[in-house]
Amino acid sequence: MKIRKSVLLSGMFALSGLFTAGFAQSDVDKRVEELLSKMTLEEKLGQMNQVSFFAVDDKAIAQYSDDDMDAFLVRMGIAGGQGQKKPSEMSKQEKIDLIKAEADKMLDSNITGPVRNGKIGSLLNVTDAEMVNKMQKAALEDSRLGIPLIIGRDVIHGFKTIFPIPLGQAASFDPQLVEDGARVAAVEARSTGVTWTFAPMLDISRDARWGRIAESLGEDPYLGGVLGAAMVRGFQGNGNLNDPGSVAACVKHFIGYGAAEGGRDYNSTNIPPHLMRNVYLRPFHEAIKAGAATLMTSFNDNDGIPASGNGYILKNILRDEWKFDGFVVSDWNSVGEMIAHGYAKDDRQAAELSANAGLDMEMVTGSYMKYLPELIKEGIVSMETVDNAVRNILRIKFRMGLFENPYVDTKKASVLYADDHLKAARQAAIESAILLKNDNNTLPLSEAKKIAVIGPMADAPHDQMGTWVFDGDKNYTVTPVGALKGEYKHIDYVYEPALGYSRDKNTANFEKAKQAAASADVAVVFLGEEAILSGEAHSLSNINLIGVQSDLLKAVKSAGKPVVLVIMSGRPLTIERDLPYADAVLFNFHPGTMGGPAIFDLLFGKANPSGKLPVTFVREVGQIPMYYNHNSTGRPAPEKVMTLDQIELEAGQTSLGNTSFYLDSGKDPLFPFGYGLSYTTFEYSDITLSSPSIPMNGTLTVKVTLKNTGKVDGAEVAQLYIQDIVGSVIRPVKELKGFQRVALKAGEAKTIEFSLTTNDLAFYGRDLVEKAEKGDFNVWVGGNSNASLRSTFSVTE
Ligand code: NOJ
Repeated sequence: MKIRKSVLLSGMFALSGLFTAGFAQSDVDKRVEELLSKMTLEEKLGQMNQVSFFAVDDKAIAQYSDDDMDAFLVRMGIAGGQGQKKPSEMSKQEKIDLIKAEADKMLDSNITGPVRNGKIGSLLNVTDAEMVNKMQKAALEDSRLGIPLIIGRDVIHGFKTIFPIPLGQAASFDPQLVEDGARVAAVEARSTGVTWTFAPMLDISRDARWGRIAESLGEDPYLGGVLGAAMVRGFQGNGNLNDPGSVAACVKHFIGYGAAEGGRDYNSTNIPPHLMRNVYLRPFHEAIKAGAATLMTSFNDNDGIPASGNGYILKNILRDEWKFDGFVVSDWNSVGEMIAHGYAKDDRQAAELSANAGLDMEMVTGSYMKYLPELIKEGIVSMETVDNAVRNILRIKFRMGLFENPYVDTKKASVLYADDHLKAARQAAIESAILLKNDNNTLPLSEAKKIAVIGPMADAPHDQMGTWVFDGDKNYTVTPVGALKGEYKHIDYVYEPALGYSRDKNTANFEKAKQAAASADVAVVFLGEEAILSGEAHSLSNINLIGVQSDLLKAVKSAGKPVVLVIMSGRPLTIERDLPYADAVLFNFHPGTMGGPAIFDLLFGKANPSGKLPVTFVREVGQIPMYYNHNSTGRPAPEKVMTLDQIELEAGQTSLGNTSFYLDSGKDPLFPFGYGLSYTTFEYSDITLSSPSIPMNGTLTVKVTLKNTGKVDGAEVAQLYIQDIVGSVIRPVKELKGFQRVALKAGEAKTIEFSLTTNDLAFYGRDLVEKAEKGDFNVWVGGNSNASLRSTFSVTE
């Protein structure tokens, strides 16, 4: 609370439907050129300027403490000065009225006025429909040229109805589910006037210490590309940016942000060209092929060049190679931050470097507005550069139909938290949960048994929503305890949280938790991370269960009853030490508004777990980075490696074998990429290929039999991996190239089929040109990246 208030206050100081077919491109181009020809330089720079909105309304003021109000009045020179009343002499209402009047003045001079004068092209963080309409009116009806604003907001995994965090959605391996989730978010956000979301985040994330892994789609470029494209379709509607239930997507962060050194947010990255092309750029390219309207540059520098000043990625790759014709926005002040990077000496040079690199819109820095006029006059930045940036921005505004359809119909019935949205969020939470362990079929639980519900995440409505929730309201969250009070009220349970929150170190109630477990047939322990422990700027160097949660688990286990561990967290955790104290483990990346009922649907077997890990779970933090699709080394570790206690005293230097592994934590992760159990079992057999070899541009069909060998119905994510055995640059040991969710009744078998073209095998080789290379390949199909059912084929000339 405290933090939000001061952000609001400092923000004030810091700042000086119709469904139609898409517009024909030629019409859009014509309209862009016509408009551009009428614009003054200042109006052009206005389009390139994005400002963060602030408003102080009754709701905001209601959150201020008396101290906040007094400090505000004094800082603004409204009270406490010579000849002025002291805050202590004022009534609360008097203070509120003065703050409101001052805020209105500031709003007018910093936002509404500049919008009216064509000096602002985009606002971020305004989500009140009336206010959006007021701002759009200033832009459309009061400004000289009537250019609508594009209104941005971080709608990352839902607007009001919160879906699982993106990393959780990725665990579903279900593009349709992910698309539907983005659609719900778009419909809700657009209903309040938001027309642009800063999502999806497509940063490849191979380091669980990095807080923003939560916002990612995991470690794999193929999975990230397929799901990123699905999110773009969901946000933007099927190709028609001008569907009034859509928002423009913004793929971010371009580029390499997830490879921050040591997982420390905002840190440098060092991604060499082949890795950049074959891994980090791939999901971005897929999302752009799916029609993403905008793209955001990242905070990091890669190999010494900050992304917001990197013309090679913004021009050569994005525009020339990929033919991207949307617009590029910087991240928050990432233009200005090039000064701290030591890349620009001042704001003027930062503006020059970013404009010349091809960055179209600046988020909050304001240096284009200030310095581009003189930089143009001096011939350092060309008018053509500015015109191109404005063209890119206007093109999207026209395509979105913002000129025709700028306002929100405030009389329409609310779509927020609509029943079908909540239903979709529940289904997403179900498909995103990953069953990591289930000894002796501990799960599913019988509804007739008494359960002890224990742990700080059992009833944490805010934390269950996860990071990047600006608009979701925790009062709508249904927690596990909430579900037990609602639709699962027939369950006999006892609830003992034992800890107030995940970091709480007070063990005083552990004995009570143990007693609760002893009094029940089974203990379900809800542990994990608070939302604040992941997300932007929230990296951790230790990713064990935080605080004393592992001790709580042990205490509960000592009651002698079966223990089900349910984790809700923003990142993979190192839980090897906890596994012996749990008979079953259901892992949920923060599951969102409907997490509670979704989890009980799974625990009671109304739904069968089917999520798969979108990221490798390491055994020890020191194993990071560890990911399944690493390059082949010259000395791969053998199947079994020596463990520390097997090493003889004074063993000879080479007696352990000189291969690549850790003496203390081996060569394997705790759980591999793609892993996840079910209440049933699946068997893969009979891998057959349409041919032992395919020519360049040919297609290979891979068939396997997948059988549900257990006693209940279930869904399995069948995964196809390949290995290009010899390449002109070293290829990964395995690469995901296809996956399918297959629903199978108990005992049912199906033949499933994957198609692989040589395009799917293409990579950027020694010459940095993307193509498939002839040679031999391994192909595997299975339920995770350790799949062993293998065949081989070759690609010929
Ligand atoms: C900074 C974050 O890095 C970015 O992802 C986000 O969209 C912007 N702030 C706007 O909030």
